[in-house]
Amino acid sequence: MKKRLFSGIQPSGDVHIGNYLGAIKNWIALLNDYDCIFSIVDYHAITVEYDPGLMQKRILNAAAVNIGAGLDPDRCILFVQSQVPEHTELTWILNSLTPMGLLERMTQYKDKAKQNEKNVNVGLFDYPVLQTADILLYKGCAVPIGEDQLQHVELSREIARKFNMRYGELFPEPQHLLSDAPRIMGLDGKSKMSKSMDNYISLIEDPDTIWKKLSRATTDENRKRRNDPGNPEICNLFTLHKYFSNETEIAKVNKECRTAEIGCIECKRILSDNMVKALAPIREKSLALMNKPDDVLDVLNTGAKKCRKIAEETMEEVRSLMGLRLVKV
Ligand code: TYM
Repeated sequence: MKKRLFSGIQPSGDVHIGNYLGAIKNWIALLNDYDCIFSIVDYHAITVEYDPGLMQKRILNAAAVNIGAGLDPDRCILFVQSQVPEHTELTWILNSLTPMGLLERMTQYKDKAKQNEKNVNVGLFDYPVLQTADILLYKGCAVPIGEDQLQHVELSREIARKFNMRYGELFPEPQHLLSDAPRIMGLDGKSKMSKSMDNYISLIEDPDTIWKKLSRATTDENRKRRNDPGNPEICNLFTLHKYFSNETEIAKVNKECRTAEIGCIECKRILSDNMVKALAPIREKSLALMNKPDDVLDVLNTGAKKCRKIAEETMEEVRSLMGLRLVKV
């Protein structure tokens, strides 16, 4: 039997190349080796202010883009978190095992609390416990993620251990899997590429916008004039070349940037052309799926049905180990 793998993505904005290179591409590569479950985690996306009128579309688009990128729903389960109520039920139970101090240490919470000073709610604080419940509900062993989620997966191991020690062995300790691009920086070159910041290229970006965004992107800041030699090793766009250009092009850009034979504009042009080419099939398939929402809904409903069955079974085991619900007197 294959090991179970779980991961998720928030429907909080456009799915971007950071999500793709850091997570989704790896999810697709792992489809054969694991019994895979992927979730559009809408409960996670409500911990910051959002427009409820846009949520349905965001969920649908996130699902469409994941499938469009190659997450074949015939080879995995894809579902929406809020279609399986056990996620929140298990969260409450795990809350009672999680020390406040552990959550206070979470760097993503600290960052988000700073960004959302007027709305530092309990959900934002408790977010890593919900993430732990997501994984443990399906007894997930492997969790492919970007680097920003490492601390959360570590926490899920601690919570699983605590549960097993207190109530009896039930949950595997989930192990993280990182891709070869665990942290893609934003186009500003300063912060992580993120859905909530205007520093990303979406997976369905049109060719003109890709060029516009890249042409404004930060490069090696020490290179002030066209004729100054550049330093690819500190240039964020050179990093992106590594994922979109072929070896000959990468070697050429590396050499000709250092000798100032090419300037940043030429380098960006090569990257833009390659990115447009690489994203074209994803864009085409995703847009086609967005125009067929019923097909996407079918995939998600089928996924949710399978997940509810697994989740119900796990919760029965959890309640039984914990002595919850009056079964017989
Ligand atoms: P989210 O929606 O922020 O991101 C989805 C996945 O993309 C990765 N990622 C990146 N990787 C590399 N470079 C980047 N700039 C970049 N930005 C995002 C993330 O690490 C993630 O793997 N809390 C999670 C979703 C979640 C989850 C889970 C994940 C909920 N429950 C259970 C694993 C298991 C999140 O907000 O991901």
